[in-house]
Amino acid sequence: MNTTTDRRPSNGTAYAIIGLLVAVMLLAAGGYLFLSGSQPAGLSVGGPFSLIDGDRKPVTDQTWHGKYLLVYFGYTFCPDVCPTTLNNVADALDKLGPKADRLQPLFITVDPKRDTPAVVKQYAAAFGSRIVGLTGTPEQIAAAAKAYRVYYAEHRTGPGPDDYSMDHSSVLYLMGPDGRFIAPVRADQNGPEMAASLAKLMS
Ligand code: NI
Repeated sequence: MNTTTDRRPSNGTAYAIIGLLVAVMLLAAGGYLFLSGSQPAGLSVGGPFSLIDGDRKPVTDQTWHGKYLLVYFGYTFCPDVCPTTLNNVADALDKLGPKADRLQPLFITVDPKRDTPAVVKQYAAAFGSRIVGLTGTPEQIAAAAKAYRVYYAEHRTGPGPDDYSMDHSSVLYLMGPDGRFIAPVRADQNGPEMAASLAKLMS
């Protein structure tokens, strides 16, 4: 019986194809990371923005000039990624020590239709006193998201006006006190991991 020897070449071929597929997927993922701003040098991320804070006051990127910014785009109806991320940010700030006083986390909604100033204010406050929630007109949000290379899109879940969720990219952006982009910070880190990442990136 030579079934085993007969099968070996086809198994080898199958493994080769799987290996090739994995390589292609890794390349695609690498390309995506590159395009989405994980390459600090040469790619501009961030820049001027005009938004509205929880008290309906206009704010810009200059409002916190001199502080590090930790910028995150999401929306308050987000079922899990946004609240998990903001919990981790709040936890990271608690663990960051004195450096936390030089860091301002901003939560910018990609759902200005539902996330009014009052809604983002109350939502951000649920994660402690440090995170500031921002909203704006759809045009202001679009401009800010474009500057930060953030993707977002409405995803219909039913016929009603509020029957939708928002697809959105989930990356934290660390900006320096001079307003310049320093690095992306992974949003799926737990509090201690995120605190360690931030401590390394802040001088
Ligand atoms: Ni979300």
